[in-house]
Amino acid sequence: MVLAKKWIYAKAFSGLPTAENFRLEEETVAAIKDNEFLAEAVFLSVDPYMRPYMLQYPVGSVMIGGQIAKVLESKHPKYPVGSFVCGNFGWRTHTVCNPDEGELKPYVLPDFGKEPLSLGLGVLGMPGNTAYFGFLEICKPVVGETVVVSGAAGAVGSLVGQIAKIKGCQVIGIAGTDEKCEWLKSIGFDHTINYKTADIGEELKKAAPKGVDCYFDNVGGKITEIVCGQMNVFGRISVCGTISNYNSEAAKVTDPQRDYVWKQLKQEGFLVYRWKARYMEGIEQNLKWIQEGKLKYHETVTEGFENMPDGFIGMLTGGNTGKAVIKV
Ligand SMILES: NC(=O)c1ccc[n+]([C@@H]2O[C@H](COP(=O)([O-])OP(=O)(O)OC[C@H]3O[C@@H](n4cnc5c(N)ncnc54)[C@H](OP(=O)(O)O)[C@@H]3O)[C@@H](O)[C@H]2O)c1
Repeated sequence: MVLAKKWIYAKAFSGLPTAENFRLEEETVAAIKDNEFLAEAVFLSVDPYMRPYMLQYPVGSVMIGGQIAKVLESKHPKYPVGSFVCGNFGWRTHTVCNPDEGELKPYVLPDFGKEPLSLGLGVLGMPGNTAYFGFLEICKPVVGETVVVSGAAGAVGSLVGQIAKIKGCQVIGIAGTDEKCEWLKSIGFDHTINYKTADIGEELKKAAPKGVDCYFDNVGGKITEIVCGQMNVFGRISVCGTISNYNSEAAKVTDPQRDYVWKQLKQEGFLVYRWKARYMEGIEQNLKWIQEGKLKYHETVTEGFENMPDGFIGMLTGGNTGKAVIKV
């Protein structure tokens, strides 16, 4: 008999989540049937989308999210015992899964070589593919162009800036602390702006005297309004996320549409699963760049399944550099 721990969405989110929003429970896991497997979480992900997405679920649901898990028992030929899978099993330690059901299939992790398994939740998983596809396919950067990335020191942003450097662009990263800005410079960003202390508009004019060609937007709000004001004609904006308003009751995002018209800007929102048919291409390319020393990653690891809410709230409030993960 296997006992699973799971984190329940105990109270609807309102503003920044607190410990009251979560409740730890246990359940006995059912025996597996044909075409099912039982997996035990090794690393779990905490991501910004969980804050707005959970509002669609009733109180009492298990918190949603991805994890890397080890297959303990299996009656499915493609998920052998001992393999490691990436699956959207939620905030739970043990899961019985029929991988042929549901839209987002779990997949056995490809060989990461010497790299740690936790990267399957970061640079070699959903955030890595968000950066790879969301930047390259939507911004279509050209050598010599100027690229701005907001949320630059996070899981997605830190990769977008480095991919832009690989593509021969000038890169400006906007992040929330001097330490994060220093780290961004150490991994190749040309300029950084601490949005909490700097005059963003003035600093951006200095860093991008010829204007901005591509903007990869992780945050929305005031930062986006300022960057849009300095876009060049025919600039491209990849709208990845708007974390600046995820905790707001009524999002008050200033509308920068005027710039889109006058400068004929192209702005496109996306969900990374648009490229699910090419998912392994992104993982393989990012792994190759890591192995060639062109792509660096950083993880902020919270130890212990019991501490998942702390890791989640810490990430929403800027406590992470690079990908925030939980180690069971
Ligand atoms: N479209 C898609 O398919 C897709 C997929 C993955 C992620 N996303 C989006 O991409 C964005 C980044 O996700 P991630 O996983 O890489 O998270 P992350 O950047 O690793 O973590 C969140 C970061 O957001 C920053 N932040 C928090 N509040 C902010 C505010 N009011 N203004 C500006 N920055 C703020 C914090 O850094 P600072 O210290 O710099 O404030 C924090 O560390 C999110 O908006 C997420 O929803 C979209």
